Amino acid sequence: MDKETIVDFVELARSRWSVRDYDERPVEQEKIDRILEAGRVAPTGANRQPQRIYVLQSDEALAAVRAATRMAFNAPLVLMLCAQVDEAWHNKAETVMRGITCDTYNVAEMDVSIVCDHMQLAATELGLGTLWVRGYNTQALLDAFDLPEGVVPMCLLDVGYPSKNAKPSRLHADRKPLEQTVVVL
Ligand SMILES: Cc1cc2nc3c(=O)[nH]c(=O)nc-3n(C[C@H](O)[C@H](O)[C@H](O)COP(=O)(O)O)c2cc1C
Repeated sequence: MDKETIVDFVELARSRWSVRDYDERPVEQEKIDRILEAGRVAPTGANRQPQRIYVLQSDEALAAVRAATRMAFNAPLVLMLCAQVDEAWHNKAETVMRGITCDTYNVAEMDVSIVCDHMQLAATELGLGTLWVRGYNTQALLDAFDLPEGVVPMCLLDVGYPSKNAKPSRLHADRKPLEQTVVVL
């Protein structure tokens, strides 16, 4: 991998910020397709691909998600990222993690997070704004959408063009220095 590629990626990652106010302009279908493709090629545990992605863009679907959470804001497109949890890789042998007992360790949420991150950065590359959302009540989403048995919402990704008033929150500039989060042994 050449150095230039790495620098470009970091610049792309730096240029992303959470958008909480969107323009009315719809997201073009080609861009939606590209975002979905970026998610499709994401790695998942044992390649199980448990993600189920609901593209919410009709008036009806957007009204339903906005009734379930304030965090969809006025995005013209919301991706509801779910997992068919029993399809995800899980480690039956791992019963205790540092004193916390688990029957199984299921990677569905990790898988969906990787998919979401791929899609968020793909949207950034396309000049779109996004917001990763977990601030919702799962039951409210289950009530709003008729999801198949075993499909659980894991996060939302609001997508759209930032409004002209949108700006990064003060948290965007606040990142811990590497010394606080990285241990080199
Ligand atoms: C897992 C996850 C969940 C989040 N949930 C919400 C949310 O429910 N509502 C919200 O306004 N922002 C949410 N965010 C956005 C974060 O608050 C934001 O990424 C963080 O403050 C850094 O700001 P920046 O994205 O502008 O750099 C979430 C981000 C992540 C990664």
